[in-house]
Amino acid sequence: MDDLLTRLRAGLPAEALLTDPDVTDSYARDMASFCAAGTPAAVVLPRTVEQVQHVMRTATELRVPVVPQGARTGLSGGANASDGCIVLSLVKMDRILEINPVDRIAVVEPGVVNAVLSRAVAEHGLYYPPDPSSWETCTIGGNIGTASGGLCCVKYGVTAEYVLGLDVVLADGRLLRTGRRTAKGVAGYDLTRLFVGSEGSLGIVVGAVLALKPQPPAQLALAAEFPSAAAACEAVCAIMERGHTPSLLELMDRTTVQAVNKLARMGLPDTTEALLLCAFDTPDPAADLAAVGELCAAAGATEVVPAADAAESELLLQARRLSLTALETIKSATMIDDVCVPRTRLAEMLDGTAAIAEKYRLTIGVCAHAGDGNTHPVVCFDHADEDESRRARESFDEIMALGLALGGTITGEHGVGVLKKEWLARELGPVGLELQRGIKATFDPLGLLNPGKLF
Ligand code: LAC
Ligand code: ZN
Repeated sequence: MDDLLTRLRAGLPAEALLTDPDVTDSYARDMASFCAAGTPAAVVLPRTVEQVQHVMRTATELRVPVVPQGARTGLSGGANASDGCIVLSLVKMDRILEINPVDRIAVVEPGVVNAVLSRAVAEHGLYYPPDPSSWETCTIGGNIGTASGGLCCVKYGVTAEYVLGLDVVLADGRLLRTGRRTAKGVAGYDLTRLFVGSEGSLGIVVGAVLALKPQPPAQLALAAEFPSAAAACEAVCAIMERGHTPSLLELMDRTTVQAVNKLARMGLPDTTEALLLCAFDTPDPAADLAAVGELCAAAGATEVVPAADAAESELLLQARRLSLTALETIKSATMIDDVCVPRTRLAEMLDGTAAIAEKYRLTIGVCAHAGDGNTHPVVCFDHADEDESRRARESFDEIMALGLALGGTITGEHGVGVLKKEWLARELGPVGLELQRGIKATFDPLGLLNPGKLF
């Protein structure tokens, strides 16, 4: 341990190395509950690529595990410390190095906060779409680690579609440059895409070239009330089938709406079974919303309320972004699922989740990126109640089994971390698992990078 700290100190400014256990313990976990976390030996907050290389060389020489972290807003324990590890927090590498409106790219360090980047590119008339609910605090490096999604993905896609190239410090300290800053490029294997969503298990992302879009017009939203989740899902399918391109298509069930109202007095209609939010950033959003309103009515909506203006639309988005925080206030603990199914199977997923809640006698609130088929069933339970905690875990697992049975995936955007490890093996199957382990061993032969995650 002393040796580790001495060696680290040799290549780092004093303020970049934290060793006080009261401080380092606060870096032990992300926002997921029920995930094991160890005690870090040290936390390093580098400001340069060279400092990251120094940490990795030291870790390799001394065989010390390294856990990379962004803002720790993750929901699967993917950034949780392991015992005796170096936590490598990238939050101080937070410079936007370039915004280029002609090439439509931004070059950034990993610690840039998502919303900071969004606002900076907006000043150039540009748009960085991926917008996780935690966008005001989460970092681009963390977004890349988990291939984050968000509310606008139904139209604009997820983080993976915006990462063109990466600078990565490998386990042994070498610097790898992947991808490109060009609009096209097919040279060699797509290592960039491999790193996106690799949850810090293959290397440390220290820089990224991100693709940008022109800033679309401000979006206009509507809220539609449905007597059942299945009816709301029918509307979702009709909207997509008719070729509409909503910039947001979200669902909140009754439990979620009530929790948000209680937390933030949003005044959402809380007697409805399912609230569908739909927005357009098209040239004539009012016309698109009118067409969608008719589809909602045909699917059984009891009420369709368009927002008066962009500001009111933004309030609806805020209500949706608050969903998880609000559901967390129902009981002392929550487990959040992230199952994504083909949208044609969304109704079965939501009805099945309701049946699971009933079977296990639990409150499971659901918010969903309905347009993506990506659901977040949030299992609410009392941590101190052993029986309820057991039922919570079982229901959590059964929801993933249901998602796989419907042709879906266990995680649409939150990643595997430690929370869904056994389930990754089930989803990949033995051949997929063996090859993925082989890839891990190629990049990290000593198994030092974020050990105990994914597999
Ligand atoms: C959301 C987070 C939980 O969709 O992914 O709000
Ligand atoms: Zn989400």
